Amino acid sequence: MRPAKQRTLAELVIAYQKRSGRQDLPWQKTTDPYLIWLSEIMLQQTQVSTVIPYYQRFLSQFPTMQTLANARRDDVLSLWSGLGYYHRAHHLHEAAQIIRDQYHGQFPCNFNDLLQLPGIGRSTAGAIADFAFGANYPILDGNVKRLFARYFGIQADLSTSEVSKELWEIASKEMPAEQSGIYIQGLMDLGATVCRRSQPDCQNCPLQHHCRARKLDKVNQIPYKATRKAKGSQSIRFFIYWHANQVLLKQKPNKGIWAGLWSLPEKDLQISATLIQTKESLPAIHHTLTHLHLTLQPTRVQLTKASPIKETTWFGLKAALALGLPKPVRDLMLELQKVMQTQCR
Ligand code: ADE
Repeated sequence: MRPAKQRTLAELVIAYQKRSGRQDLPWQKTTDPYLIWLSEIMLQQTQVSTVIPYYQRFLSQFPTMQTLANARRDDVLSLWSGLGYYHRAHHLHEAAQIIRDQYHGQFPCNFNDLLQLPGIGRSTAGAIADFAFGANYPILDGNVKRLFARYFGIQADLSTSEVSKELWEIASKEMPAEQSGIYIQGLMDLGATVCRRSQPDCQNCPLQHHCRARKLDKVNQIPYKATRKAKGSQSIRFFIYWHANQVLLKQKPNKGIWAGLWSLPEKDLQISATLIQTKESLPAIHHTLTHLHLTLQPTRVQLTKASPIKETTWFGLKAALALGLPKPVRDLMLELQKVMQTQCR
């Protein structure tokens, strides 16, 4: 008797996805490229459980490509507020406008056209093409890189361009001819829930018998941990100028930390002492971004009137809270709301 043919990686992943993978994520019920694109952008660097409420709120305000393209940037950023990596929201909005203006509002179905849109890299273009248009392109996000590195026993720093090239070659070679959407979803499911970075659930992994890292007893050493650059640190002062129910905000430039969001002035605006009713330092806030530890030092200054000040805008607090605000600024606004309420009683 001939020995049973060994099942391919794709066959194992597809069988797993059908049997035990995630089937009910909000973006799995559709092939509408707009809905899939939005999910893929939100899921870059962000976990499913965090994304779901943002995804639903975003779609209730911008249910179609057209509504997003015609939206104000501030309203898009406001719905992104708290999700982080704000360049994604800028790119999403720009891409929607390109699709409206250059593609007659029809989402491009061609992989190379997808790749030209802001915010869409090779892996995201592959996921959109496969999920929405039934195409057959590989994906390679961080979780899938880790899965391939373990499965094929790649003991090298995954961030180098040579290893990245090797991983893309693997990703292309392993693509099945059919059921590519189920296969890539299975890779994502396994990468996120089984082949986890720490404490991988090898006992329940459908790939355990073929996994090179497991054979070598190196699951915990792969991916190889390159020495990470230590995070930098930065201290920022925040000035909360307020009067009655109004607060003074300044929009951040479109590049850099909190790109395009409304934030607090970071400099003392040298307001005449006669206009200052109270001035108090608040406790420092520690906030961590991907590459940076921030120490935020807020000073709250109550003014006797809301005079115009250049490059800044006065907002009613309710309107301010509807803007795209960095998370610590939103928290400070909520605290200010309490102060305002006690003063108005
Ligand atoms: N991560 C990236 N894309 C995803 C998807 N479609 N489902 C779950 N997690 C993902």
